[in-house]
Amino acid sequence: MAKEINTIGVLTSGGDAPGMNAAIRAVVRKALSSGKTVKGIQKGFMGLLNEEIIDMERKDVSEIIQRGGTILRTARCEEFRTEEGQQKGADICRKHGIDGLVVIGGDGSYRGAQALAAHGINTIGIPGTIDLDIACTDYTIGFDTAVNTAMQAIDKIRDTSSSHERCSIVEVMGRNAGYIALWCGVANGAEDILIPEKYEFREQEIINNIINNRKKGKTHHLIINAEGIGHSTSMARRIEAATGIETRATILGYMQRGGSPTCKDRFYASMMGAKAVDLLCEGKSNRVVGYKHASWVDFDIDEALAMQKVIPEYEFETCRVLR
Ligand code: F6P
Repeated sequence: MAKEINTIGVLTSGGDAPGMNAAIRAVVRKALSSGKTVKGIQKGFMGLLNEEIIDMERKDVSEIIQRGGTILRTARCEEFRTEEGQQKGADICRKHGIDGLVVIGGDGSYRGAQALAAHGINTIGIPGTIDLDIACTDYTIGFDTAVNTAMQAIDKIRDTSSSHERCSIVEVMGRNAGYIALWCGVANGAEDILIPEKYEFREQEIINNIINNRKKGKTHHLIINAEGIGHSTSMARRIEAATGIETRATILGYMQRGGSPTCKDRFYASMMGAKAVDLLCEGKSNRVVGYKHASWVDFDIDEALAMQKVIPEYEFETCRVLR
């Protein structure tokens, strides 16, 4: 018999992402409308271990759907990686009557959810990361806002860079994943996209391209560099030395994680939040919500974590053809 859930907890964990507030709002309102009590856990798993737990009512999530960041705040927590930490977390959930928990975050956060599920707390994950690097879903909350923020910033950099006939390297977020770089590369018409999944250390090739393009009359050269490649500033110095063309590096950084979420992020986050509550109400646990082939789906967390996400070859190749 499926375990009946009475109190649903919700937390955000890992890097924040625009749209997390819309997901929190959906969890709270859907749970309340299903007759459940709701508790917000502040600062992720760290806040759980410190018992930073608050009651949540409908009004507590008013006026947040348009706000970036996460009203519950977020953190990364080393202690929760240990067996003792996980046992303590499950005990604290029980102490506060939390028998179902929604965890909004990335892969690392699912590991925490998985551990709590193993300790008897029903858990459901929601993909919240600007990196789009979760294999079991075609969409992660925050990606759309982040790529639009980055795209607009790169357009601006391009204006000034073209005026000065410079080469520009723009570093976007993505420590292990190149989706933001790939999308901006296409959307901003970059000449080169360097992403961790496909980096071949062929800097001389890039230099040759810049020189050839300049000979053909191109006044500007845009390189989008994913954070995982790094060394944008030294790369700019090397390119300038080798080509004689003024080269500037801009690291967009954390501005990509902030800002008011796009309509798409608000909508997807709202659906995912509601779906997570539905799953808990059905007695499900150790699942993660996803969006695949135009449907709202869910997967076992163990299965989801074992899946591999690969950069679509067609998209990467098309980007090179269009440059
Ligand atoms: O949110 C994902 C991400 O933006 C990665 O691309 C990046 O490497 C990481 O977060 C950095 O986050 P923090 O500095 O907060 O750990």
